[in-house]
Amino acid sequence: MNYQVVVVAAGQGSRMGADRNKVLLPLKGTPVIIHTLRIFEKDPCCEGIVLVVRESERDLFRGLLEKYGIHKVVALAAGGSERQESVFNGLKSLKSSDDRIVLVHDGARPFIDRRRIAGVVEAADKHGAALLAVPVKDTIKQVDSGEVRKTLERKSLWAAQTPQAFRLSVILRAYREGADRHFMATDDASLVEEMGMLVVTVSGSYRNIKLTTPEDMIIAEKFLEEEKEDACG
Ligand code: CTP
Ligand code: MG
Repeated sequence: MNYQVVVVAAGQGSRMGADRNKVLLPLKGTPVIIHTLRIFEKDPCCEGIVLVVRESERDLFRGLLEKYGIHKVVALAAGGSERQESVFNGLKSLKSSDDRIVLVHDGARPFIDRRRIAGVVEAADKHGAALLAVPVKDTIKQVDSGEVRKTLERKSLWAAQTPQAFRLSVILRAYREGADRHFMATDDASLVEEMGMLVVTVSGSYRNIKLTTPEDMIIAEKFLEEEKEDACG
């Protein structure tokens, strides 16, 4: 089933502590964002990509798209100071008359695969909103000023990933209502949950990491080496 995707790349990457936006860092010589975009570029079900970038980096991204032959980017939308604002700007640049499935994906997640993309698209078509998620591996505690308040039951805890997929009308309404109520969220699905609507999960992958801190880059290099070996072997 066909879809459009908003890829957000307008962050600062402060936890990565690098000298630039983390999605511009090289992985095996190619910027992270290009690894991510290539997945959608190659997926025949992807009809178009909206890439959200900081205004000051617009030309830089435009140059990369040209250099690496990424042709499916239909718009470069302006990033905001928070991820939520960046996603909203990206969504607004899609034709809202077109109530199809839209995906929201972090530019910093270059290891998503086509099978899982298809899974989350199908689920959103059926239920309106869906996300990839994996069971948490660690025990999660609620801590306040260094003191444990509560230990959460691990069985029911899942870590949210992207892509998250929605019917365009659903996610646009969720973002508009979220903005009206000044509700701040770190993922897109929680804005839909906030409206009292059903959101379903689709099994994600532990490889679908979000490159966040420097050690994630080491793991990512390793994943790419493995993929290369698979391709040759
Ligand atoms: N993002 C964005 N606009 C923002 C903040 C984040 O488009 N104002 C994007 C990032 O580029 C990234 C994705 O959202 O691809 C996930 O966010 P995160 O991992 O938090 O990235 P950063 O905000 O860049 O990193 P940090 O929080 O460490 O500064
Ligand atoms: Mg951030």
